[in-house]
Amino acid sequence: MDSPMYGELALFSATANRPLAEEIAASLRTELRGADVFQFANENIFVRLHGSVRSDDVFIIQSMTVPVHKNIMELLIMLDTVRRDSAGRITAVTPYFAYGRTDKKDQPRVPITARLLADMITVAGADRVLTMDLHAGQIQGFFTIPVDEISAFSLLCDYFVGKRLEDLVVVAADIGAAKKSRNFAEALDVPLAIIEKRRTVDGDKTTALNVIGEVRDCNVIIFDDEIDTAGTMTSAAHFLKEWGVRDIYACATHAVFSPPATRRLKEAPFKEIVVTDTVDIPGVKRLPNLTILSVGQLLGEVIRRIHLGMSVGEMFDE
Ligand code: R5P
Repeated sequence: MDSPMYGELALFSATANRPLAEEIAASLRTELRGADVFQFANENIFVRLHGSVRSDDVFIIQSMTVPVHKNIMELLIMLDTVRRDSAGRITAVTPYFAYGRTDKKDQPRVPITARLLADMITVAGADRVLTMDLHAGQIQGFFTIPVDEISAFSLLCDYFVGKRLEDLVVVAADIGAAKKSRNFAEALDVPLAIIEKRRTVDGDKTTALNVIGEVRDCNVIIFDDEIDTAGTMTSAAHFLKEWGVRDIYACATHAVFSPPATRRLKEAPFKEIVVTDTVDIPGVKRLPNLTILSVGQLLGEVIRRIHLGMSVGEMFDE
C-alpha cells in the first residue's frame, strides 16, 4: 500500500490494548512494527524501536485506560521516539481518550485536563489524531492538528438491527446522552425515552430520578458513550425494571469498567451488555452476558484511508 505523500505504513502498539492493535494490523494485512516498551525499576518508561521509521507514515495505537497515567506517558514517549527517528508523519491513535469529562471550567479553580492532554500529544510529536466517540465532540477543537473522530455508532446499530427486537425503545442513560441516543433511536427507527439523572458533586454515586417517554412493556436499549463505574447504566436498569420494561440491553462504545462496575453489572437486570473493544477488557470482567464488538476493521479502514490520502468522511456518508 503506497501513500502518495509519505513512506511506508508503520503501525505500532503501546501496551494498553495490544489485541485491538493486532486486529487493526490484520485488517490491513500487515504486522505491527517491533518496539520495546518497558518500565525501569523507578517506573521511568523507556522505548526502543526495533527498526528505522525514517520518512514512514507512523500510527501509534494506545488507549488511555488503566493505568491511565502510565499509558498516557507511553503514548507521549513513543511519539517522541518516532519523531526523533525522523518519521514522515505521525498519527496518535487513541481509541479511548481519557479525561474527556474534564473538558470545561464548570466551577471555579478547576483544570481543563482534556485540553492539557491535547497539548501534550501535539508537543510530543503527533501530526494527527485518530480517536473514537469522544465524550464531547468539542474536544476535537482542543487540538490544533487534524483530528478524525470515528464513531462505533454504525457497528452498534447494525448489531441491534440484526437482533430484530420488537417493541423496542432506546433510552438515554442521562440528559447528556440524549442527543446521541436520539440518533441511535432514529437509526433503529424506534422511539426514544430519556432518564433524568442527577450526579452527586464529589463522588461516583448517581441517582436516576425520572423517565421521560413511554417504556412500559417495551424492550429497551440503554445507550451511553461509556460505562465507567456502571453507576449510570445500572441505576437506569434497576429504575426501568420498576417501570415495567421487558428485556434491558446496555449499549456503549467504551467499556471502561472501573470498580465496582463488574459487580454492579452482574447484579443488574441486563439481558445483554453490548460494548466495543476500544478498551481491552480483562477476562475477569467478561461477564456471560457481555458482547464485545471489535472496532479493529473500522479503525483499519480509517488508517488505510488516512495513509492513502483518501476521505474518511465518505465512509460514513449514506
Ligand atoms: C457521563 O456524562 C457519561 O456519558 C457516562 O454516563 C458516564 O461516564 C458513565 O459513568 P459511570 O458508568 O461511572 O456512571
